[in-house]
Amino acid sequence: MIVAAGSGQRLAAGMPKALVRLHGRPLLAWVLDAFTGHPDIDSVVVVGPPGALADVEDCAAGRATVVAGGTSRQASVELGLAAVGSGVELVLVHDAARPLVPASVISGVVAALRAGAQAVIPVLPVADTIKQVDGTGQVVATLDRAQLRAVQTPQGFARSALVAAHRDARERSLTEVTDDAGLLEVLGVPVVTVPGAELCFKITGPHDLRLAHALADEPSTATPVGEPA
Ligand code: CTP
Ligand code: MG
Repeated sequence: MIVAAGSGQRLAAGMPKALVRLHGRPLLAWVLDAFTGHPDIDSVVVVGPPGALADVEDCAAGRATVVAGGTSRQASVELGLAAVGSGVELVLVHDAARPLVPASVISGVVAALRAGAQAVIPVLPVADTIKQVDGTGQVVATLDRAQLRAVQTPQGFARSALVAAHRDARERSLTEVTDDAGLLEVLGVPVVTVPGAELCFKITGPHDLRLAHALADEPSTATPVGEPA
């Protein structure tokens, strides 16, 4: 499942972030290439902005089922899950805002699920020292960096466990949770980590988009699936 229904307030590009172009192609198209071209992925659901579903359908070009998202990422994931068949056992949830996701990260998440994990997250070590502060900005504690990880997507789940965790969160009146794995964590489900990748970074603000432009291979050598030559 690719969650692409956000508006991209921080990027402020005047359009939903998933439709912002990287070397001429929407971020969503890059992500669709990564997943539809991966041997471990059987089918894709894209959760798109309700006001731009026609653009999302154009971008998907028949490669994915497109559904409308909600007002929070949590709501969008739950709406996407409703479009995943009950016969599906394993689901990966990926941010459209991470266009350069390497195939190796997808493979690693799927492998851990196939090995029996119910919840899997790709992570990276943290480079900066992280401090905990109070409401005034004064330092409360210096956290042990060796025990910290930065979390990326795709996060992988046993579908039924993720559906149950989202239902549980809604019943507890949670609405703005951005970390799916955290919903299972509070239910006591073990969450397994696998290696993430620096290329899997999330485009949040304008600086990230410039970084992606510098790091992405220009898609000039191959004709993307679903697009005319
Ligand atoms: N997302 C979503 N539905 C929402 C909010 C977010 O599907 N209501 C998706 C975004 O499209 C994105 C991913 O969740 O792929 C991560 O969210 P974020 O980076 O915060 O994207 P936006 O919410 O679009 O950006 P911003 O918070 O700056 O508005
Ligand atoms: Mg957001």
